[in-house]
Amino acid sequence: MSNRTFTMIKPDAVRAGNIGNILQMINAAGFRIVAMKYTHLTMTSAGKFYEIHKERPFYGELCEFMSSGPIVAAILEKDNAVADFRTLIGATNPANAAEGTIRKKYAASVGENAVHGSDSDENAAIEGNFFFSELERF
Ligand code: CMP
Repeated sequence: MSNRTFTMIKPDAVRAGNIGNILQMINAAGFRIVAMKYTHLTMTSAGKFYEIHKERPFYGELCEFMSSGPIVAAILEKDNAVADFRTLIGATNPANAAEGTIRKKYAASVGENAVHGSDSDENAAIEGNFFFSELERF
């Protein structure tokens, strides 16, 4: 069972003024913030982060969107973090997201879906390392 996951509050949710609302839901669900930063991906850094999707038809659109404005990146801690966080955020496509989930409340479409959540322990570690050094984790 993992105890850490990685998240981003994406440019759509930042633009809509929902950083505070989303962090409140994350804290209320019992996640502790290990690391956090407000930053802005470039096309190149977004492409590197999402390299796993580079053969997908939506890769270009995804990188454009993720570099279209600032994001909040964070490492979160809780028992069963990866699975519990994916439950909290809901399905990738907000049309399929359960009531009460972050994406149901704040996401507009599969492309602009408010938040990212790691899909495995391995990717949580890789993604957290992409943004944070050991000195930035508390
Ligand atoms: P995320 O959890 O950040 O991981 C990969 C992202 O690709 C996903 O959220 C979506 O935002 C995006 N994505 C997945 N499917 C599509 C699609 N069909 N069209 C556009 N973007 C997509």
